[in-house]
Amino acid sequence: MEIGIIGSGVIGLTSALALVKDGFNVTIVARDLPGDDGSQQWASPWAGAGILPYPESKGHDLQTETFKFYRALAHRDPTSGVQVVDVTEYYDGRNDDSTIWYKRMVPKYRLLPSKNLPANAKIGFKYQSMTVNPAVFLPWIKRLLDKKGVHFIRAEVKSLAEARSILKTPVIINASGLGAFDLAGDDKVIAVRGQTMLVESDSHEMVMFQGSHYTYQIPRMFSGGVILGGVSQPGNSDQDVDPDLRPDILRRMNAISNDRFRSVDLNKHVIADLVGFRPSRKGGYRLEVEDGIIHAYGFNTLGYTYSYGVALKVCELAKSLLAEKRALRSHL
Ligand SMILES: Cc1cc2nc3c(=O)[nH]c(=O)nc-3n(C[C@H](O)[C@H](O)[C@H](O)COP(=O)(O)OP(=O)(O)OC[C@H]3O[C@@H](n4cnc5c(N)ncnc54)[C@H](O)[C@@H]3O)c2cc1C
Ligand SMILES: *[C@@H]1O[C@H](CO)[C@@H](O)[C@H](O)[C@H]1NC(C)=O
Ligand SMILES: *[C@@H]1O[C@H](CO)[C@@H](O)[C@H](O)[C@H]1NC(C)=O
Repeated sequence: MEIGIIGSGVIGLTSALALVKDGFNVTIVARDLPGDDGSQQWASPWAGAGILPYPESKGHDLQTETFKFYRALAHRDPTSGVQVVDVTEYYDGRNDDSTIWYKRMVPKYRLLPSKNLPANAKIGFKYQSMTVNPAVFLPWIKRLLDKKGVHFIRAEVKSLAEARSILKTPVIINASGLGAFDLAGDDKVIAVRGQTMLVESDSHEMVMFQGSHYTYQIPRMFSGGVILGGVSQPGNSDQDVDPDLRPDILRRMNAISNDRFRSVDLNKHVIADLVGFRPSRKGGYRLEVEDGIIHAYGFNTLGYTYSYGVALKVCELAKSLLAEKRALRSHL
């Protein structure tokens, strides 16, 4: 059976992979494709990206499936750009780990004694997870899909009718992230600006501080550096690097890591500055069928963390949609 997908970000690509594994013939239409790493109109090349579950997020089952997928991939094929790393998380707005639902899912979870916490942190804990280097992973999965016979068509679609005429498939998946920046669509979707920098480092640890500020380091396999962040600016559409954010990120990161980056010179040791826009959605992500379309977008800061779980759900929705269509036809 044939399935069409609008969008070639991490959600569209992993959905395609799950669908071909189930025997579907998949065609993807997208404005931006893996390899177009300079375009800020899509989010996936700009992510850290850590597989980092979040306490107050929905879809624990989706995050659990994703965790299993990337963990297996890191062990099976390191050339995918996926790597197992130690994670340390700190929070200054939580007194205990009762909200950390994933402590039973991740390997090697342990709470840190309070004497080992950075200033102001109320809790800290360690576990194992994975990082994905998008610059390696996106081309890797594209090549895999090419080999499995997935068709890629580069086009920007302006309407559902146009998507149908390009894809010619009975089922269409809308994995368009922010969608078209300038077209009226889902008005709940908003871009949340992020800015990070890739700094020379041999650290293989992922560190995340959340609460009164949002600061992290995410190692990037095969790049010689770590991504330092974070910045979260809803409604800011400036695609240029804000130079004032660089020393601010570095200062926050040093404050939570015992000055790990004290010798970093921002004029010498920054490999790249990154500015990207997360596809956020008021009320959370959308993963449902409406009028014969499977919607899978709005994954905000957690697109990689949800990706393979979303892909499996998309597969399930596609099968029931096709079964419905068949039942309908047999009644005609
Ligand atoms: C700085 C930063 C750091 C991040 N860090 C992490 C992290 O550590 N962990 C994590 O899990 N997530 C992280 N994210 C979030 C993650 O990047 C996104 O949630 C994810 O990439 C969204 O994927 P997507 O496939 O939904 O959308 P996108 O990657 O935006 O892809 C959308 C696709 O749809 C296409 N498209 C859109 N409109 C049309 C149209 N009209 N016609 C044709 N094609 C269209 C685009 O061209 C593209 O191919 C981060 C994001 C940023 C910006
Ligand atoms: C898959 O679909 C494409 C385009 O619709 C078609 O050209 C191709 O022959 C199909 N492949 C298989 C194996 O059915
Ligand atoms: C697909 O999703 C986008 C949001 O990414 C939305 O703006 C658009 O209207 C949707 N397209 C269709 C055909 O439903």
